[in-house]
Amino acid sequence: MAEALLEVRRLSRRFAAVDALKDVDFSVDAGEVHALIGPNGAGKTTFIHHVSGALQPDAGSVHFAGRDVTRLSMHQRVAAGMARSYQITNIFRGLSALDNVALAVQGRPDAGSSFRFWRTVRSEVRLFEEAQACLEQVGLGKQGVSIAGNLSHGEQRALELAMALATKPQLLLLDEPMAGTGPEESARMVELIEHLARHVTILLVEHDMDAVFRLADRISVLVNGQMICTGTPETVRNDAGVRRAYLGDHL
Ligand SMILES: Nc1ncnc2c1ncn2[C@@H]1O[C@H](COP(=O)(O)OP(=O)(O)OP(=O)(O)O)[C@@H](O)[C@H]1O
Ligand SMILES: [Mg+2]
Repeated sequence: MAEALLEVRRLSRRFAAVDALKDVDFSVDAGEVHALIGPNGAGKTTFIHHVSGALQPDAGSVHFAGRDVTRLSMHQRVAAGMARSYQITNIFRGLSALDNVALAVQGRPDAGSSFRFWRTVRSEVRLFEEAQACLEQVGLGKQGVSIAGNLSHGEQRALELAMALATKPQLLLLDEPMAGTGPEESARMVELIEHLARHVTILLVEHDMDAVFRLADRISVLVNGQMICTGTPETVRNDAGVRRAYLGDHL
């Protein structure tokens, strides 16, 4: 079998008295949508922080695209092809949607020489063309001139995704993209993730089980810092341990 795109081995992290992550083994194959679910406080966000490089583990390793990235910074992991959806607070609310994405494109490590240093009219045009393409991918093609702060909550979440796509990731990390959205916006976000999943591998943390079971090729379940089950949605839905620890309340 081909090597996984992301492989986490025996990852452990302790916060004071809490074992936030304990010997976690986990992998994401190229092309899949892999959902990570579990109760509040299970360690999901902590896990994503260790994958993205925001936090370093006490033990264990993270391998991405065939490289050991455990000691690489967040910036280096972005350069290697990982992207984490920006939080809304990372959006410049006073700038247009297009300018926000253009800044994200410009921040891409490989964009340094083509966009930043030689600031020709042509490079500027290319920069904005790329930014526009990212907006179109998330359904904001016509909103480029809108001031980001005036976009609806759902549109701002879509803008975050466009900013993540601007770094041309191989793996997109999404931590609760449906949080704080109404039913209509959630439905739109599900469609958007379905669309993006055709181009990019996705690791999705989400509490909305309708969305998870619709989107995921595989699901992993984290409870008290331990991965208790990984499998197809069907396998996970029927797993007695998972139902006991989590899904019993949700399905
Ligand atoms: N910086 C920190 N310092 C101390 N404890 C922390 C820190 N970050 C997380 N924790 C603890 O680690 C555990 C896992 O938290 P985490 O936020 O990863 O859970 P989660 O699965 O993302 O929960 P939720 O579904 O509510 O977002 C919790 O007990 C939390 O209190
Ligand atoms: Mg969380």
